[in-house]
Amino acid sequence: MNTDKVINTVVDRAPVKHSKDKNEKSTIPHLSLAKVAGLPARLFLRLNERVWYRLPSRVRDLRPVRSYGAWLHTLVCRRARREMYVGTSFLRNRPMLELIRRLSDRKGNGASLRIAVLACSIGAEVYSILWIIRSARPDLKVALQAVDISKEVLRFAEKGVYGADASAAVAWPIFEHLTSHEKQEMFDWEGDQAKVKSWLNEGVTWKLGDAADPELVGALGQQDIVVASNFLCHMPPADAGRCLRNIARLVRPGGHIFVSGVDLDVRTKVALDLGWSPMPELMADIHDGDSSVRGDWPWRWWGLEPLDQRRPDWHTRYAAAFQIN
Ligand SMILES: C[S@@+](CC[C@H](N)C(=O)[O-])C[C@H]1O[C@@H](n2cnc3c(N)ncnc32)[C@H](O)[C@@H]1O
Repeated sequence: MNTDKVINTVVDRAPVKHSKDKNEKSTIPHLSLAKVAGLPARLFLRLNERVWYRLPSRVRDLRPVRSYGAWLHTLVCRRARREMYVGTSFLRNRPMLELIRRLSDRKGNGASLRIAVLACSIGAEVYSILWIIRSARPDLKVALQAVDISKEVLRFAEKGVYGADASAAVAWPIFEHLTSHEKQEMFDWEGDQAKVKSWLNEGVTWKLGDAADPELVGALGQQDIVVASNFLCHMPPADAGRCLRNIARLVRPGGHIFVSGVDLDVRTKVALDLGWSPMPELMADIHDGDSSVRGDWPWRWWGLEPLDQRRPDWHTRYAAAFQIN
């Protein structure tokens, strides 16, 4: 994700309250954020970034270089002002969609499948999930509830019509991952305006809501699959942790949660505290499946670190899909 491509276009959302975590400890003791190694921090980071991208990938993969990258990323995060973006795209993380398809494939013929997609933005993720499931299992009765805190994006999502205004609204090339065949399968086209096919629109309920709201489980009910992608990283860690615990209450016992675009320490802690079972299936592919976040590490606060199997906690740390028991 290029910073030039993203803007904060949410103008009408309810204010998200962020609290400061009083117990949050600095992981970089004695580090002045104004100056690093005698240089203004911004200049220090810019010089490092230039060198970083010149390094061959095998050098970047060396353990000390990764550790240095992790330290730089901590510095980036501590300097950053986290803003909420609405950027999204169709088929953004294909391995994640494939795992959702495999889970839905475990359902019996004609069964119902309840899914909640939180922070759905203009709906690209919702229609991608429905496309993948309904193409494979047209017999399933899918009831999908999509929630976002912004009225503005929900208006686009509900209409399911994507022209230049939709891409502009999220400041993102929303079709960038689609082949021309997929574009024809998912949309009816009028010029450069794409309307989601009616068989993808069916069974979706769009809701204005806050994923952190404790009333959410009462409003939506328990789900087979809950998807929470790319919005928890915008929150301070303590708020993201609380929000994730709230979201987890939506998953029925034995159901699954997909959570990505979140600080990995936050996700790992919640997963361990609540005893979630990480799903090994496609773990590494899903981790690397969204190039817009993997490619931006360590230089942007949303950047996702490389999967490191040498970490003792790697099975939990790098899983984006969990079963909740
Ligand atoms: C970067 S977009 C992610 C869109 C989509 N999930 C994806 O991964 O492509 C973030 C979305 O989160 C929504 N959002 C932010 N905080 C939220 C909250 N507390 N509850 C529900 N939606 C929220 C924003 O309005 C925005 O549409």
